[in-house]
Amino acid sequence: MDNLTVTEGIKSLGIEQYAEELEETGLTVVPPEVNNFGEARMDEVVKRILDRAKAMTGVNFTIEDGPLEELEFPMPKIPEKALEQLKASNMADAILKPTQFLIQKLTHEHRIFRDLALNPASVALQNFIMAGQTRLSSVNCFVKWQGDFGYGPTLGLHADQAATPTPWGAVAHSANSTWCLTDYTLDGGALAYIPGSHKEGRPAPPSDRVKDAIPVEAPRGSLIVFHGATWHGAFPRKEKGLRLGLAVYHRHAANLPQEDIPGLTSDAMIADTDDPKVYRTISGVDDKFPYREEQSEAVPHLKAATG
Ligand SMILES: [Fe+2]
Repeated sequence: MDNLTVTEGIKSLGIEQYAEELEETGLTVVPPEVNNFGEARMDEVVKRILDRAKAMTGVNFTIEDGPLEELEFPMPKIPEKALEQLKASNMADAILKPTQFLIQKLTHEHRIFRDLALNPASVALQNFIMAGQTRLSSVNCFVKWQGDFGYGPTLGLHADQAATPTPWGAVAHSANSTWCLTDYTLDGGALAYIPGSHKEGRPAPPSDRVKDAIPVEAPRGSLIVFHGATWHGAFPRKEKGLRLGLAVYHRHAANLPQEDIPGLTSDAMIADTDDPKVYRTISGVDDKFPYREEQSEAVPHLKAATG
C-alpha cells in the first residue's frame, strides 16, 4: 500500500498523530479537547436529535432510559424463502426486531449539523485519506437502545466502500467521521472494528475473524474517523439508555453520494455555516460532474464570414 501524504491541514491543526494512527490501523479517535467542537454545541446536537426522534416516532426518548414507550417497526419486505433462511441462521432478530433506527438528511435540519460536518479536524483527516478530494456523502444519526441481539454474532462487520471495485489502495473511496453523542462503551453498544483490516482489501471479513474485533470506547464528544476499507460493525447495547452516533459519511469526489447532497444543498444553507468556502467544496455543489446543463462543454459554430 502506498503511503499517504500528511497535508498542511493536518500540520496546522497539530493532529499528525491521529493521521498516522488512521493510516496505520484504519481508525482513530480524536478526543473532545482536540476536535474542539465544544460541550455547549454538543448539548444542542443531542437535544435536536432527541426532539427529531420524538417527531419521527411519536415516542419520547431520554439518554438515561432510551425509548419511554414500546416501538415497533414496519414488517420488512422480504421474500418468504429469504426469511426462512434468516431464521435458520439465527439472524432474523437483526432484521425483524432491530433496536436502532436512522435519522437521515440532518444537514437540512439545522445549521449545527452542517457545522459538525465542517469540523476542521474531521475535514482535514478526511482529506488526508482521500488525497484532498473529500466530499460529503450523507449526514445521519444512529439512535440505538437496549437489545441483546444487535447485529448478531457477526457484529455486522463490513467495509463501507464495499460497493467500489477492488483492488483498493491507501486512498479511501469513502470514510466515516462518527461523532459520539453519548459515551461509547463495550456494554453500551460501541462501534466494533478490526485494527489494520483496511489493508486486507476485502468487503467483509471471513467469519473466523470476528474474534479480532475490538470495541472503540470513547467519551461523549469524541470523533471517530475510519477508512472505508476498515471492517467495522457494532456490539449490542446491553444496558438501558441510548447510544447516539452521528455519522458524517464522506466519499471521494469520484464516487456517488448516498444522499444527493450536491443537488439538495442551497446557497442559503452554504452561507449559514461556520465556513461557507469549505462547505461549498465538501458539499460538491460546484463539481463538474454530474453536470445539469444541456451542454457543459463548449460547442463550435460555423465561422462568421470575414472581409
Ligand atoms: Fe458501515
